Amino acid sequence: MSLGTGREVAYLVAAICFILAMKGLSSPKRARAGNLLGAAGMIVAIAITFTTPGIHNLWAIALGMVVGVAIGVPAARLVKMTAMPQMVAAFNGVGGAAAALVSIMHFSFSPVSLSTLATYQVFEVIFGVVVGSISFTGSIIAFSKLQEIMPGRPITYPAQQPVNAVVALGIVGCILAVLVDPSKLVMLVVLILALLFGVAFTLPVGGADAPVLISLLNSFTGLAVAATGFTLHSNVLIVAGTLVGASGMLLTRMMSQAMGRSIPNILFSAFGSVVTSSGATEKEGRSVKSGTADDIGVLLAYSNKVAIVPGYGLAVAQAQHVARELAETLQKRGIDVFYAIHPVAGRMPGHMNVLLAEANVPYDELKEMDSANSEMSTVDVALVVGANDVVNPAAKNSPGSPIYGMPIIEVSQAKAVIFLKRSMRPGFAGIDNDLLYDEKTTMLFGDAKDSLSKLVSAVAAA
Ligand code: TAP
Repeated sequence: MSLGTGREVAYLVAAICFILAMKGLSSPKRARAGNLLGAAGMIVAIAITFTTPGIHNLWAIALGMVVGVAIGVPAARLVKMTAMPQMVAAFNGVGGAAAALVSIMHFSFSPVSLSTLATYQVFEVIFGVVVGSISFTGSIIAFSKLQEIMPGRPITYPAQQPVNAVVALGIVGCILAVLVDPSKLVMLVVLILALLFGVAFTLPVGGADAPVLISLLNSFTGLAVAATGFTLHSNVLIVAGTLVGASGMLLTRMMSQAMGRSIPNILFSAFGSVVTSSGATEKEGRSVKSGTADDIGVLLAYSNKVAIVPGYGLAVAQAQHVARELAETLQKRGIDVFYAIHPVAGRMPGHMNVLLAEANVPYDELKEMDSANSEMSTVDVALVVGANDVVNPAAKNSPGSPIYGMPIIEVSQAKAVIFLKRSMRPGFAGIDNDLLYDEKTTMLFGDAKDSLSKLVSAVAAA
């Protein structure tokens, strides 16, 4: 076997590792193994790249890798679970910039005159530049919103979408011009417009929708990388980029479906900019009933079946460990406890599963929305911990509501509902939740971690 064939076989092995890694990541049990397999594939791909004939500047490449490892390893080790979306945004932005830079370098310094290239080859280059640049600046804005460097609310201004449409049309016009005549000046214009468009189209997306945006940008980066793979004749880049592009697109679709919203609604509607909740403790003659930890502890201690419904507030309060402690205290009394997981509870996909896994909650106690809902009518107490929108019956009953159509955990079917939250403030969607005023509902106001600790003591004392 020649060296060239050996290299292609090694790249094929790396690509197979990437595919199996994604399969592994789809289950909590196999996720770690999947991650390691993906990393192994990446090591093979990088090592084999060094054997490519005519590769130059090895020291510069090695230096770049050392700098990357010195930043990447501590960043990945130190990041908090709640800060994962912005970490992904930062890494994604760097990936988009790298793809764009490869294409720009190819355009500017290629030994072959671009006018001698076939139109499809020029298209590969310009596609990498445009999509990589949009992903780069878009990711910077998404990162800044999530890191609260800039306001998380949607940033809007008059005629925003028409202005964005004009910029997008300008990009399409320049691409056509470059395809006809590959001029460096037009290429510079298209680069600037693409960088601008990345900022412009992400500004109206609210901070809480930013994870969906990041998933979409991630898919853009994958496509840009695949384009550079064509430019550099690298099969492994084409495969890896296509995998990222396709999986990012599927994830974006799954998230938007789980929220009952379309992708255009997430990108263009400035969702979350209008808060309609009154935050009142009384509504249409019904007032909110609040209880003490001791009373609720007794209610829990004498139930047969309890469903814990975690939401964003549990993540913010870092209450996952004490939630598990409460579940164990109840289980010791022979009570059946499960966790009802909504696919978009929290602010990123799989947020709750990962948090609870981190607190060593057994996987078999986590129930996905559909199976949790099928048992909800047999539940004595649904304990809603820092969740709001994902249990709001308006999603089923109020056709005019912004969350109408979003599937929910139907806690209203349980015999009693307890909400642990700090106030009557709404969740991300900014709307009232009628369930808070329902006669079967009791509020326990306070930070989720404190309230759960009090409940652990109250159940133990009951
Ligand atoms: P939300 O509806 O945002 O409600 C979270 C609740 O937690 C708030 O009402 C808040 O009330 C409470 N809270 C905050 N900090 C707390 C603390 N320290 N202790 C106790 N409670 C606290 O959350 P959810 O029900 O998980 O719904 C998620 C929302 O995010 C949905 O609208 C979903 O569409 C959206 N979203 C999710 C994703 C993904 S993929 N997960 C992506 C984009 C958007 P107080 O302020 O009164 O405490």
